[in-house]
Amino acid sequence: MNPVVEPTIFELSSPGRKGVPLPQTDVPEPEALSQEFRRRSELAWPEAAEIDVMRHFVRLSVLNHHIEKGIYPLGSCTMKYNPKVNEQAARLPGFAELHPETAEADAQGALKLMYELAGFLAEIGGVGAVTLQPSAGAQGELAGLLLMKAHHSERKDKKRNQIIIPDSAHGTNPASVATAGWETVQIASGADGRVSLKKLQEALTGRTAGMMLTNPNTLGLFEKDILEICRLVHEAGGLMYMDGANLNALMGIVKPGDLGFDIVHFNLHKTFSTPHGGGGPGAGAVGVKKFLEPYLPNPRVERIEKKGKDWYRFTENKKSIGKVHSAFGNFGVLVRAYTYIRTLGTEGLSEVSENAILNANYLLARVKDSYEVPYPGFCQHEFVLSGNRQKAQGVRTMDIAKRLLDFGVHAPTAYFPLIVPEALMIEPTETESRESLDYLADAFIQIAREVETDPEKVKKAPHTTPVGRLDEAKAARDLDIAFHK
Ligand SMILES: Cc1ncc(COP(=O)(O)O)c(C=O)c1O
Repeated sequence: MNPVVEPTIFELSSPGRKGVPLPQTDVPEPEALSQEFRRRSELAWPEAAEIDVMRHFVRLSVLNHHIEKGIYPLGSCTMKYNPKVNEQAARLPGFAELHPETAEADAQGALKLMYELAGFLAEIGGVGAVTLQPSAGAQGELAGLLLMKAHHSERKDKKRNQIIIPDSAHGTNPASVATAGWETVQIASGADGRVSLKKLQEALTGRTAGMMLTNPNTLGLFEKDILEICRLVHEAGGLMYMDGANLNALMGIVKPGDLGFDIVHFNLHKTFSTPHGGGGPGAGAVGVKKFLEPYLPNPRVERIEKKGKDWYRFTENKKSIGKVHSAFGNFGVLVRAYTYIRTLGTEGLSEVSENAILNANYLLARVKDSYEVPYPGFCQHEFVLSGNRQKAQGVRTMDIAKRLLDFGVHAPTAYFPLIVPEALMIEPTETESRESLDYLADAFIQIAREVETDPEKVKKAPHTTPVGRLDEAKAARDLDIAFHK
């Protein structure tokens, strides 16, 4: 394994060196603190000059991969470039320093932002109302299922406890169903990677509460029978939930509500640009058709007229499923999404989706002869390859993913969706240029060639990263991240 090239800040510490002189504390020593709880030695803070601290963290910032460093084609994650203006907006003191308990009169700007954002999302989703509370796609799914539950309960239709999910679905879908206390009925995808109408019909019963469907699905394919799928599920008394994680392919092109979905979540951190590479923060706003609006989480923001002017205030509904997040959700993510939507406007958002689809198809066309394409044809904003051909040469998809790191790009999503053996799921996003797509395509093609000519090079990759292959089980179960002097 290559050594990590950057020492810790503790190792860079030199006694007496200072970045910032701190003022004497004006907080009195707590007299009541018993001796046994008092520190016996000085804290071993690192001591370093400002320039050394800056250089240290700048060096660290490029050891790992991030979207500002290189292409990040992590399928299903929409790792697009996040414009810096969003960050500026989220950090405006009027937003960033606002306390959740601030009086309505002093938070009109923030309330207006939430009201308008919910309106924009309702327009994009073709739905009647939106909650901004859930903090991730997965939590949006759970909220959506609880809304379905409320709907069926109100109709005294409590026997409905099954959700139909295709086998290509993201793992959060069945997990959300289990969390909601319902059962998943998994249906096998058809030969074309889409929902099989026959399998769907067989699965529909009097216990069907609804169906969860990702569109485009996780194979990057548009569900071309979606109108019929929605009709069948509705006819059987169920509701349609769209996992909107792949909305990056649909904006301004088609609205989930118009396709027949009753509920849709928006991964604001993906489609509407919030940095989420480290696992958060996120926002999974949920949109619903009007008949489900009474059940949405409390509170929501409404606009009224007060003394001839617009006034924004919180409103609660008695039939609500309750709160699903403290305060009003991840407000900073909402500010970023609002800024992104306002910056791009209607035309800009349509262009995002058009370019996301174009970029994915360009990349697919360039690499399709080097890898197996399990579902050939045009794709939406992402596509899935199989490393089956390379596996026959003794090289696994994991090896290909690791070798890509040597080219300074993030690996695609590997081994998902589960229905594709040796899957490589690739989503270049709209923010990559033609040159960067060509660079990625060339890397894929070179690796496929290496599998033929020098498989060991691929199997031993990465060769240029600060750390090579980790023992992943040990890294997860036996992690030692403490600094020992
Ligand atoms: C298709 C799909 N659905 C749901 C989710 C869950 O979203 P989140 O990570 O925001 O919980 C993801 C996340 O990658 C996804 O790709």
